Amino acid sequence: MLYHDVLLFLHLIGLAMSLGVGITNMVIARMVAAAATPDAAGALRALPPILSRISMAGLVLLVVTGLLLIIQMGFAGMTGWMKVWFWLKMAGVAAMIGVAYLIFQAQGRIRQGDQTAGAQMRQLGPAIGGLALLVTFLAVLAFY
Ligand code: HEM
Repeated sequence: MLYHDVLLFLHLIGLAMSLGVGITNMVIARMVAAAATPDAAGALRALPPILSRISMAGLVLLVVTGLLLIIQMGFAGMTGWMKVWFWLKMAGVAAMIGVAYLIFQAQGRIRQGDQTAGAQMRQLGPAIGGLALLVTFLAVLAFY
């Protein structure tokens, strides 16, 4: 039981890191885009790459602890629709990993000075945030 509790605790810390910090990052990205002066934008611009690393680490923590949780719990207690929600949740997680990869690539292009990558990031941020909300909702349905 203690092992399970520690894993679930770390799973939820991963959620706070990925979803909580991810939403903060989206707000900052919008503030950078709307900043009145280059100086104001410059001060804020340092934050997204740092927060993004925390968010990515949160997603890795979610996947690692999630897999350990399901290995430990098995599917025995899951009946009917719970299994459906679980596999939909896994599909959502796979989509999150795909979008995280695109974000990783776009960040590399931003570092090389590609101006179009910033606009792409403003679409990818909400995409992964929306997926994280959906996956969280499916998790609650699957494990009540
Ligand atoms: C491979 C990836 C993942 C696997 C295998 C997995 C597996 C699990 C398992 C087995 C539980 C049940 C723990 C319990 O009831 O004690 C759980 C709970 C939960 N997971 Fe995941 N998870 C994964 C990724 C994620 C992601 C990416 C998110 C959110 C973005 C997430 C959000 C949650 C939440 C909110 C709960 C608590 C639900 C509740 O107790 O009602 N999980 N997960």
